[in-house]
Amino acid sequence: MLGKSLPKIITALPGPKSKEVIDKRKTAIPGGVGCSAPCVIKRGEGAMFEDLDGNIFMDWVGGIGVLNIGYSHPEVVEAAKAQCEKYFHTSINVVHYPEYIELAGKLNELVPIEGPKKTMFINSGAEAVENAVKIARKYSKRPDIVVFTGAFHGRTLLTMTMTAKVKPYKFGMGPFAPGVHRCEFPYMYRRPAGMSEADAVQFYLNKLEDFFLEYTAPENVAAIVMEPVQGEGGFIIPPIEYIKGVREICNKYGILLIADEVQTGYCRTGKMFASEYWKEAGAAPDIMTSAKSIAGGLPISSVTAKAEIMDAPGVGEIGGTYCGNPVSAAAALKVIEIMQRDKLADRANEIGKKCMERFNQWKEKYEMVGDVRGLGSMMAIELVKDKASKAPAKEEVNKIIAETAKNGLITMSSGVKGNSIRFLMPLVITDEQIDAGLDILQKAFDQHIK
Ligand SMILES: Cc1ncc(COP(=O)(O)O)c(C=O)c1O
Repeated sequence: MLGKSLPKIITALPGPKSKEVIDKRKTAIPGGVGCSAPCVIKRGEGAMFEDLDGNIFMDWVGGIGVLNIGYSHPEVVEAAKAQCEKYFHTSINVVHYPEYIELAGKLNELVPIEGPKKTMFINSGAEAVENAVKIARKYSKRPDIVVFTGAFHGRTLLTMTMTAKVKPYKFGMGPFAPGVHRCEFPYMYRRPAGMSEADAVQFYLNKLEDFFLEYTAPENVAAIVMEPVQGEGGFIIPPIEYIKGVREICNKYGILLIADEVQTGYCRTGKMFASEYWKEAGAAPDIMTSAKSIAGGLPISSVTAKAEIMDAPGVGEIGGTYCGNPVSAAAALKVIEIMQRDKLADRANEIGKKCMERFNQWKEKYEMVGDVRGLGSMMAIELVKDKASKAPAKEEVNKIIAETAKNGLITMSSGVKGNSIRFLMPLVITDEQIDAGLDILQKAFDQHIK
């Protein structure tokens, strides 16, 4: 059974059948839509997929955080099929349909925002962030938003503007949307040398207060938008004390706090949503976005907020033709049911614990493993030239990713400097598969770093 198997490479990569498709891709698809994996998928199950040439890979990227529930979960397949037989599409702006309404109700129960909530659906993470900002502006009647260094919020004009990294995400694609200001994110591994974590929290909070003196007045700011763990930025985890400080600043100035949970949501961090950690600390967000793993791979995304905030836009001011597609909504309801029933948030914590034990050993063993970090099973290893300089080791990261792929393990880089390896394995992965993946990774480290 593919879902329980281990990686097995039986051809040179890419194999001949994969190569034929990859060659066609080069002429059919623009190079700007990137991909580096040396294989073409034939079918996937759990954390594994088989390529056209019969090679078996383990996927620790999961379609970039989309496959928390694994490939082709049979119950989700059934739910989607059953919905397809009833109707693929009708717009929620034209005819009411129960799947949209039920899913909204479910998210209103689960999203860790205080008080009565409402939810709308769109199609992608970027659209969710765009709508969250539109709604925040409409509600607050303020024009500006604050985002962070290292942030990633999407590729549309507004969300590309909100995204930090210039190359490759923004270069040559301006001018950008107005009203977006960027403050420094608390990157604890790279905080000023000698500073304690507690002092660093205050240091970064002071930066946020000072920022209001030079960039925009807090009375102009509709929302501060934050990822609970920065995704593309390198899986950087802000201390909860920092979040509490941001919440206080938001309260002080009447600014809305938006948690962008596009990558952190749906059990990845050991909770259904990472901002549950915020809420437990008394720092719940006002608005939350989600996407990616919500429907196991079918396109749908969400914005949830306090009801009064969500009700700020008038009829027709939010929405869109495909938003909240019935097949995606039916799949999402099943995904959430399975996640709760099978306790995938707890499993994320177990996976995280198991991996972090090995990662911490590697931090001792290799001079070039600078930092290992994780929340639940949203984990990364940051490679540096040496521990003292912390100079980013991007080339080595690329070599390791190529090497693990050769041995059947798909991994991906992240970070503004591209020097972190991120892990987003499906949460249905078995212990045996985790061990096999860690062994492949260690072999690649032995070959390519000191
Ligand atoms: C935190 C975050 N926000 C927004 C997005 C954009 O999502 P999408 O690619 O679905 O537009 C991403 C995608 O990686 C993300 O990680």
